Amino acid sequence: MNRIRMESLENKVMTAEAASMLIKDGMTVATSGFTPSGYPKSVPLALAKRAEEGEKIGLTLVTGASVGDELDGAWARAGILKRRFPYQTNASSRNGINDGSVSYQDMHLSHVPQFIEYGFLGNIDVAIIEALAITEEGGIIPTTSVGISPQAVSEADMVIVEINTSQSMALEGVHDIYTTKKPPFRQPIPITHAGDRVGTTFIPCDPEKIAAIVFSDITDKVRPLGAIDEDSKKISGHIIKFLENEVNEGRLPNNLLPLQSGVGSVANAVLGGLLDSDFENLTCYTEVIQDSMFDLIDAGKVSVASGTSFTPSEEGLIRLNENMEHYAKHCILRPMEISNHPEVARRLGVIAMNTAIEFDIYGHVNSTNIMGSRMMNGLGGSGDFTRNAYISIFTTVSTAKNGDISSIVPFVSHVDHTEHDVEVFVTEQGLADVRGLSPRERARCIIENCAHPDYKDMLFDYLERAEAGKYSHEPHIMDESHSWHHRFLETGSMR
Ligand code: COA
Repeated sequence: MNRIRMESLENKVMTAEAASMLIKDGMTVATSGFTPSGYPKSVPLALAKRAEEGEKIGLTLVTGASVGDELDGAWARAGILKRRFPYQTNASSRNGINDGSVSYQDMHLSHVPQFIEYGFLGNIDVAIIEALAITEEGGIIPTTSVGISPQAVSEADMVIVEINTSQSMALEGVHDIYTTKKPPFRQPIPITHAGDRVGTTFIPCDPEKIAAIVFSDITDKVRPLGAIDEDSKKISGHIIKFLENEVNEGRLPNNLLPLQSGVGSVANAVLGGLLDSDFENLTCYTEVIQDSMFDLIDAGKVSVASGTSFTPSEEGLIRLNENMEHYAKHCILRPMEISNHPEVARRLGVIAMNTAIEFDIYGHVNSTNIMGSRMMNGLGGSGDFTRNAYISIFTTVSTAKNGDISSIVPFVSHVDHTEHDVEVFVTEQGLADVRGLSPRERARCIIENCAHPDYKDMLFDYLERAEAGKYSHEPHIMDESHSWHHRFLETGSMR
């Protein structure tokens, strides 16, 4: 299969080293990639080598979400990464963010494509896009993710295409590339079902902009998924029981509404739990298509899964590549502007399920900053879905660090999602449905159902003493609510 189908572009083929010379100190680079899937690898590695050999290169990097170590990790270790938008999960970039050497803005993912178009992130000097192939018209066929690639291509001064021959050609046709116009010309997005296809299978690109084409065969460095443990199974069980009850009460249809599920092991386990449920003909409108989705497709439980990336484990990647034609019939990869669009999430009535680091008794959620200060990953797309969902669910295990930290606290140490955004909280202990409850009612419901028994009395004691104060709407003892985190930092335990 010819990977460069536009003959006039063949003379743009060069080595990764030569292509990397197009990137200069001070530039803003926007790349493909969403989770460690579909990101450029050989050009970033060539650039890192130049920096390691002593060249001064400092860059701003904009991606869809996290990317693999060849980009985030290699650039952070080589000192190239100076400014980073909008999400990361790499140990080296996280270290740089937490030691202050990398300036990081953690953003709602649906904002990023439009902020690029609005010029809010400054000029995009170079786009580096991993591709399966280039079409006869110069269009770029993405690989295992789409992310911000359409906007990176349209807004960048020049485009470097990294054709990755390790990616299965059966991916061709999986993508559905639809972009919006800027206000005041923006129109409604014509998606009314998770499986609707409304765009092209390639990213349109002015061939004049393609400055270099590089061939690579470096595989996506996907991450292992933790085994599904007892706590995850319990969390999944509580959610499925809740959803069954919603169907019985007539608040959800028999096949539910499109499911959105966040990243990581618990999120994977929650979806996995649906395998043993009686639900059939499910659909998903989400960001990441993880391993459990393949199980659900194989079991005939999920008819369509729409996302912006395949995010499999190592075993999942082998399974995906060996059966791409089968999964391609059920999966659609969209630009993240569309996969995460609030308009579509609200219209479809997505059931959003995301993970917290901690939540508080009144329903605020911290998904990003441990002890209020140490950046973990970022909020990713969780906010895009949470605020616009039909029902928004947050999960966490009730304690962390061998039980020394309660994940339910009087006041979260950092707020990503507010009490106005979330309807259901779940830990292995149980599920708190706070729809229609006032703050003090919410607090009792959350402590009773979600807190670990070791912390319940302490949390009730806090609530009752706070209620003895002057104001009764959402009572707090301000110094004390924040001291829970100090207590852990000073004594090694919240107890
Ligand atoms: N207080 C302090 N530390 C805590 C904690 C708490 N309440 N809860 C968890 N932690 C620590 C864990 O001990 C672990 O620390 P370590 O890295 O030193 O071992 C770390 O936080 C991660 O916890 P873990 O339970 O392994 O997390 P996870 O894999 O289930 O991920 C999030 C949880 C919140 C970090 C992850 O889901 C995330 O980044 N979410 C935000 C993005 C998002 O939701 N995207 C979804 C839209 S697609």
